[in-house]
Amino acid sequence: MAWLRKLKSTLAVMSLALAAGTLGYSADPVCSDLLVRKMHGVVSAGQFNDFRGIGEYQLVLGETFTAHLARLVRGNRWLDVGAGHARAQKEYLLGKRGFFDWIFKGRADVVAVAAKVAKPTRYSKMVDTAVEGSRKFLGLFGRYVEDIPDQELGRADVITDVFGAISYSERVDAVLNKYLRVLNAGGSIYIHTSPEHTKIIRKDGTQVTLVQWLDSVDGLAVKVEAMSIVVTPTRVGVVVPTLKLVGGKADVPPERVFQEV
Ligand SMILES: C[S@@+](CC[C@H](N)C(=O)[O-])C[C@H]1O[C@@H](n2cnc3c(N)ncnc32)[C@H](O)[C@@H]1O
Repeated sequence: MAWLRKLKSTLAVMSLALAAGTLGYSADPVCSDLLVRKMHGVVSAGQFNDFRGIGEYQLVLGETFTAHLARLVRGNRWLDVGAGHARAQKEYLLGKRGFFDWIFKGRADVVAVAAKVAKPTRYSKMVDTAVEGSRKFLGLFGRYVEDIPDQELGRADVITDVFGAISYSERVDAVLNKYLRVLNAGGSIYIHTSPEHTKIIRKDGTQVTLVQWLDSVDGLAVKVEAMSIVVTPTRVGVVVPTLKLVGGKADVPPERVFQEV
């Protein structure tokens, strides 16, 4: 029956359109460009929480992160990407410590990277004043991490990304590969994100989440703890596969669908 076949195909087209509408999915490069512009608009508007302190970082990143941070000594480096105001790192530098801790252990150097300079508040100004002039703090504000040369970023023992570049970038593979290049042996990357907001379509057409995708990369040990994804390379020179943004929705944070190319 021709009318039944026509009805079936109309329904199929409608359900595809509905699915596409939910994800804002599009393989069209022009639409992807528009999506990227909208996503950058969200970052420049800066209407998100960019003032989490060290307590919140420890809460969302979990005990492994807290213990790792406690093991860092003078000369180590903590890189926070998508750092916002960098309150967490500034509070880490300002945290109380005992005499022996101060003499023998010291504090790691910290590097904060944020695409957008955070809007100052009364409390943020107080924190800024307290760390002013500290040679332990380096702030790289106003650039996307993907555009900062590895050498300028320097090496790191711990990398954190709390709703940072991993959540907001349209080049999540480039961000991850940068992290993997600058991370010292024995280091880990701690990511806090909305796990369901990042989807990856593999070459065989199956769709996986960011955690599942990372877990399948040879040379990466991936652990989900508290509200974080802990990524630890098990060998040097790990590179994640190249991805292309094929759809999504500009939001806080954005929903993105990537495809392996
Ligand atoms: C939601 S805020 C989170 C800030 C901070 N981690 C916190 O929890 O308070 C997102 C931050 O990521 C930054 N950001 C987004 N995409 C970025 C990118 N590709 N490179 C560097 N920073 C980025 C924004 O400028 C902002 O500082």
